[in-house]
Amino acid sequence: MSGKVLVLNGPNLNLLGTREPDVYGAETLDSIEANCRARAQGLDLELEFCQTNSEGQLVDWVQQARDTHDLLIVNAGAYTHTSVALLDALKAIALPVIEVHLSNIHQREEFRHHSYVSKVAVGMICGFGGFGYEMALESAAQLLTKK
Ligand code: DQA
Repeated sequence: MSGKVLVLNGPNLNLLGTREPDVYGAETLDSIEANCRARAQGLDLELEFCQTNSEGQLVDWVQQARDTHDLLIVNAGAYTHTSVALLDALKAIALPVIEVHLSNIHQREEFRHHSYVSKVAVGMICGFGGFGYEMALESAAQLLTKK
C-alpha cells in the first residue's frame, strides 16, 4: 500500500441523492464511496470512508487519524464555513489535507465562499460532484509518493 487515506464527510451528506439534487446531483454517498473504493484500489491506497452529522465526531476522527492515517480528504459540509474546532484539529495533527466539495462553493451564497478547512488544505477541489473525491484520491496518491 502506498498510503492510508481517511475520507471524512460532514453533516447532511448522508442525504445525497435526495438532498437538493439540482445543487448536489443524484448520486448517493454510498455510490461515491463505491467509486472511491475502486479508484483507491487502482492507486494502491487503503481507504476509510466516514460520514457524521456531528462536529465533535469529526474532531474526534481527525485527532485519531494522527496515528492511523497518512492523509485526509475532507468534505466538512456546512462545518467548512463555521468550524474553528475542526480547523484546530486539522492543524494539530499536521497531516496533509485535501478539501472537497461537490458544488462550486464560490458560485453560491456569500457565506459559503469562506472555508476554514482551506486554511490548512494542500488544495481544494469543488464543482465536480462526486467525481471530485476521485480527483482528490489521484492527488493523494501523488502527494504520498512524493513524501
Ligand atoms: C458542500 C458545500 C457546503 O456549503 C454545504 O454546506 C454542504 C455540501 C458541498 O459538497 O458542496 O453541505 O460541502
